[in-house]
Amino acid sequence: MRALTPIPNVEIQDLTPATSKAPADYDLVFVGSPVWGLNLAPAVRSYLGQTNFGSTPVALFCTMGSSGQEKVFASMRAVAPEANVVGEMAVAAEAIKNPQALQQKVADWVQGFVKMAEPSE
Ligand SMILES: Cc1cc2nc3c(=O)[nH]c(=O)nc-3n(C[C@H](O)[C@H](O)[C@H](O)COP(=O)(O)O)c2cc1C
Repeated sequence: MRALTPIPNVEIQDLTPATSKAPADYDLVFVGSPVWGLNLAPAVRSYLGQTNFGSTPVALFCTMGSSGQEKVFASMRAVAPEANVVGEMAVAAEAIKNPQALQQKVADWVQGFVKMAEPSE
């Protein structure tokens, strides 16, 4: 059998994290992935699996054509079982047709975390 597309001569890349910032030093971390083939992007899977978030709350999001978020969020949680996941939000392509509504949805979602982080009286 022949491949339809020639496979380029790809070098194995150094997977040293692109950032030296430690998520555990932050108050809240957002991790997102596009939905690819009803699953999360391999680079995001690697990042989640290799990262120690400590007790830092982690909010998950994904972008997608139309479907696959359940499996993506389940996979994200499964590869980072220690992460303190506090929320999930999926954005489908359709939502981009109404940018104002989408912006409001994102702002409300983020505002919920800000309220959560406020010291209680
Ligand atoms: C290889 C590939 C597979 C995809 N699989 C899905 C899928 O299973 N479900 C879906 O709703 N969207 C799927 N999409 C659409 C992407 O999720 C969507 O384009 C992406 O979230 C938008 O981010 P981008 O602008 O970085 O592409 C796929 C896109 C690509 C390129």
